[in-house]
Amino acid sequence: MKLQSQLNLAFTALLLVILTAAGFVIYSLILDMLIEDERAELKQKGELLVDVLNEQYRSQQSIRGFRDFLEQQDLQLFLYDRRQDRVLFSTMPDRYVQGFSSSQYFADNQEKLWEAGSSKFVTSRILFYPESIGMELILLTPLNDLQAIQQDFFRRLIIVFLIGTIAAVLLSYFLTNKLVTPLTKLKRQLKKIEKRKFNQLEPIKATGEIKEVEKSVYDMASELERYMQSQQAFFQNASHELKTPLMTIQGYAEGIRDKVFDEADQEKGLEMMVTEVERLKKIINEMILLAKLDSDQSTYHPENIQAQELIEQVLDRVMPIANDHGVEVRHKADSVVQFTADAEKFLQALLNLTFNAIRHAHARVDITASEGVITIEDDGEGISKELLPHIFHRFVKGKTGETGLGLAIARAIIEQSGGKIMVRDSDLGGAKFIVILPK
Ligand SMILES: Nc1ncnc2c1ncn2[C@@H]1O[C@H](COP(=O)(O)OP(=O)(O)O)[C@@H](O)[C@H]1O
Ligand SMILES: [Mg+2]
Repeated sequence: MKLQSQLNLAFTALLLVILTAAGFVIYSLILDMLIEDERAELKQKGELLVDVLNEQYRSQQSIRGFRDFLEQQDLQLFLYDRRQDRVLFSTMPDRYVQGFSSSQYFADNQEKLWEAGSSKFVTSRILFYPESIGMELILLTPLNDLQAIQQDFFRRLIIVFLIGTIAAVLLSYFLTNKLVTPLTKLKRQLKKIEKRKFNQLEPIKATGEIKEVEKSVYDMASELERYMQSQQAFFQNASHELKTPLMTIQGYAEGIRDKVFDEADQEKGLEMMVTEVERLKKIINEMILLAKLDSDQSTYHPENIQAQELIEQVLDRVMPIANDHGVEVRHKADSVVQFTADAEKFLQALLNLTFNAIRHAHARVDITASEGVITIEDDGEGISKELLPHIFHRFVKGKTGETGLGLAIARAIIEQSGGKIMVRDSDLGGAKFIVILPK
């Protein structure tokens, strides 16, 4: 069921429950109120009558006069003599007199609702003055009359409730519509994201939480778009990088098969093929490593690392190559510098930076560890301006580059560990890579 229908249904159900309860309470209270009201009115009328009777027909003798006067009043009443327990006069049929007498209503003056057969009456009793004469005027109104008023009132109440309900439901429809419309629009935008039509996204009119959801959705969409673009670029670059060595290998392999090379060229061809296969292997290994670093956080095993020890491990591994290149590697490490990261992976990141530095250095590479930072710099050519903004991206490499993945791997490791990497110009003349250590 649609959200709007659900909201309206819930609201209408709630309204009906409240109105039914209210109607029930009002219906049951109204009769009590009418009875109270009627009794007060009867009492007032009775007192007026008793006053008149007391004034004009003071003595018992003129009971005939009473009668004529009372008969003119168009009221249902009894004149009752307490002392004799006798009804002196009544404007009501005899069967009521008998009915009431047999129920002992006259003697018992507590009972307010008199019943005879199937009819009930609201009563009010007024004593004549002086009380000692024991004369009482009893006025009655049939309960049926009051119930008719109750029914009539209730019918009107129902009509008012009905109109109220219709108005409320219309209002609720209007309000929920206002609430749901932005959601419907947002759903349409989500459909576009699903179909990857990112450039067709339109802002929607909304406020409050829905606006916040919209913002999150659009942030997510642009993140997704960026991700898809980088993924696409990655595949294009990767296939290009893999194709180049494969084509070289294919060229030499076909040449050797078709015997177009002399002996010396054939030797050189085989040599090239081995080199290219090595290169392919390296690219593929690095691609797999990068994919792993990106996708699987659980492969990180953080431990406490002493910067000094780590740099010594780096030196042990790069020394042979530094010697080959005739490059001197100097190092300086504060013994207090330590941090938390996956030691094996962090070593890999620093090795990538140091091998690069040695490859590009003229004669000198400096590795320094101080509070929170490790820097690796060299006295080589430095990094060209065009390359600088993209240097950490995959497959970005300079003229003498190899795979273009080393810095991307270093960045992935350092950032996943909670650190940062930046590149600046070195005072030595070459590039200076600054690694901000994780806390
Ligand atoms: N210390 C450095 N000095 C000068 N250029 C560098 C240095 N380190 C990296 N570069 C440049 O950045 C590019 C990318 O490096 P990297 O990602 O390690 O790939 P690769 O080393 O396989 O070429 C290199 O090809 C090189 O042009
Ligand atoms: Mg490299």
